[in-house]
Amino acid sequence: MSSSKKRVYIKTFGCQMNVYDSAQMANLLKPAGYDEVASAEEADLVVLNTCHIREKAAEKVYSDLGRLRQIKEARGKNEAPMQIAVAGCVAQAEGAEIKRRAPVVDFVVGPQSYQRLPQMLAGEEETLATDFAVDEKFERLAQKRAQQGPAAFVTVQEGCDKFCAFCVVPYTRGAEHSRTAEEIIAEVRALVRQGVREVTLLGQNVNAWTSSGPDDGNSWGLGELICHLAQIDGLARIRYTTSHPRDMDDRLIAAHGEIDILMPYLHLPVQSGSDRILKAMNRGHDMDDYKRIIAKIRTARPDIALSGDFIVGFPGETDADFEATMQAVRDIGYASAYSFKYSRRPGTPGAKIKDQVPEEVKIDRLAILQDLLVEQQIDFNASLAGRTLPVLFEKHGRNEGQICGRSPYLQSVFVQGPASLIGSIQNVDITGAGRNALSGNLCQEAVSSA
Ligand code: SAH
Ligand code: SF4
Ligand code: F3S
Repeated sequence: MSSSKKRVYIKTFGCQMNVYDSAQMANLLKPAGYDEVASAEEADLVVLNTCHIREKAAEKVYSDLGRLRQIKEARGKNEAPMQIAVAGCVAQAEGAEIKRRAPVVDFVVGPQSYQRLPQMLAGEEETLATDFAVDEKFERLAQKRAQQGPAAFVTVQEGCDKFCAFCVVPYTRGAEHSRTAEEIIAEVRALVRQGVREVTLLGQNVNAWTSSGPDDGNSWGLGELICHLAQIDGLARIRYTTSHPRDMDDRLIAAHGEIDILMPYLHLPVQSGSDRILKAMNRGHDMDDYKRIIAKIRTARPDIALSGDFIVGFPGETDADFEATMQAVRDIGYASAYSFKYSRRPGTPGAKIKDQVPEEVKIDRLAILQDLLVEQQIDFNASLAGRTLPVLFEKHGRNEGQICGRSPYLQSVFVQGPASLIGSIQNVDITGAGRNALSGNLCQEAVSSA
C-alpha cells in the first residue's frame, strides 16, 4: 500500500450505525496513508456513507454526487485526481445501479463489506462489494480503533429480522447478527483505556443482541451484557439504542433498576398508537403490550426518560388511527422523539398497499404530532430546572469559555467552565431549560478541583 500522505473526506448520512461505520472507515484507511479532512475540495478520496430509510435521504446522495462530479472534473492535470466511494445503505440497496446512474463513482461498498475498501483502492479487489460479510468485517476492524472524546459508540448487533412493512433496513443491513460478548467487552475495555467514560451500545435491534455465555453455555441477552460491562473499572455510563418493544425482556428491564451506570433514558419506538396500523406495519405487538412494557420499566426505574419514533400516514391510516397515536403520546409522555411522514420505499410490503395517504394529509398530521412532541420535550426539560445533574463534558461550547456535555437524560448541557473538565463528569446546577438544551452552573467542588 502507498505510504504517501493522502486525504479522505467522509460524509455521513442516516443513523448512528453509519456514524460508527464512518469512524471505522477512517481508521481502516489510516494504514493506507489517508488522513481525514473536513471538505471534499481538499480530498483525494470522498466517501459518501449513505442512508436509504426515506426517499429524500436516498435522493440526496445523487445531488451530492452531481456536485462532486464538478469538483472531480475541475481538478487540473497537476492536481491529485479525486476518487469517489459510495458506502452505506444506498450502496447496499442499489449496488451497480449507482455506477450506472452516476459513472463518476469509483467504488461501491455495502455496510457489511466496507472493510474491503483499502484493497479496492490498491486495485486488489473488485470495485463493488455488497455481500453480507459481517464476521469478516468485525475481524478486520478489530483493534484498529482510535477514539476521540469521552463518549463512544460500540456496535454490538447489526441487521434486522423484523420486516416492518415500511422499512428497508432488513434488506440493506441483512439478518440479525450479534457480535460475541468477548469481542464487545474487549472493545469497551480498550476504549476505557483511551479515556472513554460512556459507551452507547448500538444495533438496529440492539436488544435482540444475544450470545452464549463463556462457560456455562447459557445464552446472555443485552441485560446480562450490560451487567458485565458495568463491572469494567473506569466506565461510568452505559446507553443502548435502538430497541424494539418485542425484545424488551424482563432481564433488560431489571437492569434499569439494578445498574446505576445504565443511564435513565430509553429510546423505544412504537411508530403508531393504533392497533390496526401496528398490525398492518407488522410490528408484532399492540398498544397494550407497549404500555405494559413502559409500566414495567417505570417501576424498575421511576425517573426513566422515554424517547420514540413515529410514522404518520402509513397506508390506510385514518383520522381515528392518527388520533390513537396522539392519545398514546398524551398517555405515555416522551422526553424527546423523532417523527416522520411515511415514505414509500421500493421493495417493501408497504409500497404495494393501494390505500396510500395523500401528501397534504401526511403534512398536516406530522405538524400536529410534532407540536405535541415538542411541547412534551420543552416540559420535560423545564422540569429539570432547579435540579443538580451529573454531566459528562464532551467538548467546547459555542461561546467563549463555555463547555458542553450530556445529562443522564441525554440533553446537551452548557456551562461556563474550564476546558480541563472535558472528559470528566461534574455536577451541574441546572438553571435554564430550552427546547433542545439545558444550561447551568458548575457545582462549587467542580470549580475548585479544576
Ligand atoms: N430499528 C429501529 C428503527 C430503525 S429506522 C426500530 O425498529 O425502531 C429509524 C426510524 O425511521 C424508524 O423507527 C421509523 O420511525 C423511521 N422509518 C423507517 N422507515 C420509514 C419509512 N419508510 N418512512 C418513514 N419513516 C421511516
Ligand atoms: Fe426497520 Fe422494523 Fe427492523 Fe426497526 S424493527 S429496523 S423499523 S424493520
Ligand atoms: Fe439509514 Fe441504513 Fe441507518 S437506511 S437509518 S443508514 S441502517
